[in-house]
Amino acid sequence: MPDASSVLLQRLQAAFDTVAPGADPVLRVSDRADFQANGALALAKQVGRPPRQVAEEVVAAASLDDICSEVEISGPGFINLTLSDAFVAAQLAALSADPRLGVAEVERPETIVIDYSAPNVAKEMHVGHLRSTLIGDALARVLGFLGHDVRRENHIGDWGTPFGMLIEHLIDVGGAMRAETFSVRDLNEFYAAARKQFDSDPGFAERCRRRVVLLQSGDEETLRLWRIFVAESMRHAREVYELLGVLLTDDDIVGESFYNPLLPVVVDELDSRGLLVEDDGALCVFPAGFENRNGEPLPLIVRKSDGGYGYPATDLACVRDRTGRVGATRLVYVVGADQALHLRLVFAVAALAGYLPDASAAVHVAFGNVLGTGGKKMASRSGGSDRLVDLLAEGIERAEAALKERSSDLSPERQAATAHALGVGAVKYADLSTERVRDYVFDWDRMLAFEGDTGPYLQYAHARIRSIFRRAHLPPPPPGSPLLLGEPAERPLALQLLRFAEAVEVTAETSSPSKLCTYLFDLATTFTGFYEACRVLVDDQAVRSSRLGLCDLTARVLEQGLSLLGIEAPEQM
Ligand code: ARG
Repeated sequence: MPDASSVLLQRLQAAFDTVAPGADPVLRVSDRADFQANGALALAKQVGRPPRQVAEEVVAAASLDDICSEVEISGPGFINLTLSDAFVAAQLAALSADPRLGVAEVERPETIVIDYSAPNVAKEMHVGHLRSTLIGDALARVLGFLGHDVRRENHIGDWGTPFGMLIEHLIDVGGAMRAETFSVRDLNEFYAAARKQFDSDPGFAERCRRRVVLLQSGDEETLRLWRIFVAESMRHAREVYELLGVLLTDDDIVGESFYNPLLPVVVDELDSRGLLVEDDGALCVFPAGFENRNGEPLPLIVRKSDGGYGYPATDLACVRDRTGRVGATRLVYVVGADQALHLRLVFAVAALAGYLPDASAAVHVAFGNVLGTGGKKMASRSGGSDRLVDLLAEGIERAEAALKERSSDLSPERQAATAHALGVGAVKYADLSTERVRDYVFDWDRMLAFEGDTGPYLQYAHARIRSIFRRAHLPPPPPGSPLLLGEPAERPLALQLLRFAEAVEVTAETSSPSKLCTYLFDLATTFTGFYEACRVLVDDQAVRSSRLGLCDLTARVLEQGLSLLGIEAPEQM
C-alpha cells in the first residue's frame, strides 16, 4: 500500500519534472500544513527564474485536487500542502485493511547477519550485555519484518587463555572426575577463585599455560573439560534469554572457537595477497588511513609474536565465514562503542582480503554504557546487583508491586504474566528508547513509571484501548471499514497512524530502535489527545464505528510496534 506521502511525492515529482526533469521536490513534514515542498528554491536557481514563479509553475502543473484540500505558496517559494480529510480517511481505511499496517516488504531482500549479545563464557551475563542483546534483538525483528533473511549470530567468547586457568581449577576442585554432572553454581565466584590461584601460585600458572596449548592442539580430555564450561555458561545465558524473551536460541551460537580451524587459512590468504608485514615477530596488516596519535600507521595484529591468534584474527575469519559460508550481503555488529576502532580495522582489512565487497557492507551498531544511579558505569565488579538474572527478577517484582497498587482485577496467573511483561518491557524500553550511542542511567523508578516515555506507559495505552472494546462488549469494526475525520483531534491521530511504515523503515536504515520508540510514544500521546477530545461511544452509528476504528488501529499499531521492539502488549492490565 503506497502511503500518503509517497502518493503526494509522486504527484509532485511529475509536476517538478515539467519544469526540469528529475528536480527534487524536497518534500518534508511541516507544522504549518501537513507537508511542505521546498524544491522550488533550488530549481529556481537551476532554471534562472524567480522562485515564487517556479513554485507557481509547479502548482499549476500538479494534479493534487483529489488528495489536497489546500495548496499554498508561502515565503520565498515554499509550497505548503494540506491533505484532504477524504484522502486521509481513505488511506487510513486501506491501512486498517492491511495486516502489515502499511509496512511493505523490501523489494530486494538481503541476507543479513546480526552479531549480538555475545557474552564471554565462564562469567555470568551482567548488565553490560543488556544493550547488545536488546538492540540486536529489536533489529533482528525489524529487519525480518521488512522481509530480509536475518541470521542471528551469538559470537560468544568461548576460546582463549582464560580456559587454561578455568580447566586447571576445575581439575583441582575435583569437578573433572564427575564432569557430566558438574555444575558451576556461581560462575563468577569460580572465575575469581581460579584467577586468585593464577596470580598467587606460579606452579598453577604454568599448568594453565600448558593447558591452553593442549586446548589449542585439540586434546580430547581438555576439550571435554572445556565443553563443560561452555555448556554451563550457556545454561545461565539461556535463563536470561528466556526471561527477556529474545529470539536467540542455541542454534544461533557461533562462538570464537568455531573460527579456530580457519585462523591459519586466513593468515595464508592474507599472505598470498601480500598484505602481511612482520613487526617484532608479529604478523600484521597495516590498512591505509589508520594512524595512532603520533601519526604512525596502526596495525591489525593477525598473529602474535608467540604464534598465538587473538581477537582480531578471529574476527577476520568470522567475516570470511559470514560472507562466504553464510552468504551474507550485510553484516551488522551490535557491539559497544569502545570496540569501534577494532571493528573499523577488521572491516578495512577484510575488504583488502576480499572477504567483504567493501568495508561499508559491515556496519558497527555502536552503543553507550548503562550507568548506575550514581552516574558511573554499572560495572561487573560492583557486587551482585549487576547480574542480569537478578536485575530482571527485581524488575518483575517491582512491576508486580506496582500492579497491586493499581488494584487490577486480574487473576493471580494473569497478574504474574502481566508483571513479567511490564518489568521486562520497562527494562527493554528504557534501553531501546535511549539513542543508542548515548549512555543512560539505570533507574527503576523512571523506567517503571506509568507516565512519561516508558514501556509501561505504552503497554498501558494499548491495554486501555482494548478495554474500551471489552467493556462495551463490542468487536472492532471489520478491517477496511470507512473512517470519518470530522473533529480536529481525529486528524493528527490519523496522520500519525499513517506514518508507521516510515518509522519502521527509518529504524532499519539507521539501526536505531529509538526511532521506533519515539514514534510509538508520539502515537500514544496523540491518541490521548483524541480520546480526551472525542467521545467514542456516541449514538451516531457511523461516527461511533469510525472512532472505534481509530481506537482499534491505534492498538494494532502499538502492539505491532512494541512487538518489533520485543516488548509484549498484554490485553489487560
Ligand atoms: N565477546 C565480545 C565482548 O564481550 C563481543 C563480541 C562481539 N562480536 C564480534 N564479532 N567481535 O566484548
